[in-house]
Amino acid sequence: MVMKTLPTNANLPDLIAPIARAVHDDRVTSLAGVLAQLCEQGAFTPELFLPAQADHYSRKLIWHDPDDRFVVVGMTWAPRQGSALHDHAGLWGAEIVIDGVMNETMFALVERGADGRFRFERGMHRVSGRGTVGVLIPPLEYHDFGNGGETVAHSLHVYGGDLKSAQSFAEGADGWWTARRVDLRYDA
Ligand SMILES: [Fe+2]
Repeated sequence: MVMKTLPTNANLPDLIAPIARAVHDDRVTSLAGVLAQLCEQGAFTPELFLPAQADHYSRKLIWHDPDDRFVVVGMTWAPRQGSALHDHAGLWGAEIVIDGVMNETMFALVERGADGRFRFERGMHRVSGRGTVGVLIPPLEYHDFGNGGETVAHSLHVYGGDLKSAQSFAEGADGWWTARRVDLRYDA
């Protein structure tokens, strides 16, 4: 198993330690508090994030827990880049906005049709800035998430395992959603 480290950030183990403790305590709610506190302290520095790319939002693997309990991913969103409604493969997650403005809408899965399509109910929508934390705990793991501002946005995500693929959903004219599998790659 390979432990990922960033040579550009000598303090990375110090940054990860409180996150690992919260994960070990098995409390996503305490993890949310830890992320907010680290953000306030300015711990999420620019080198944790990749430059914006024109054709897709960037994903950087910041940390892969050696025991596979969690990963930490930095995401960079150019204006208007976003992720359509998606699941998190049954993993819990916590995310925090570091810079810019992010739009998020939560969805609840209400029905699986016999034809393999899905029906969702729209839930909370919010426009978030620096320091705003969200948690995703299955079965409440469905949301869309994207840059809602005019500047590049950064967000940091902690998932309860290596999230390698997820389902992305597209809404049909009749209000039913079709799923497709999306492989989630790291840009670095
Ligand atoms: Fe997500």
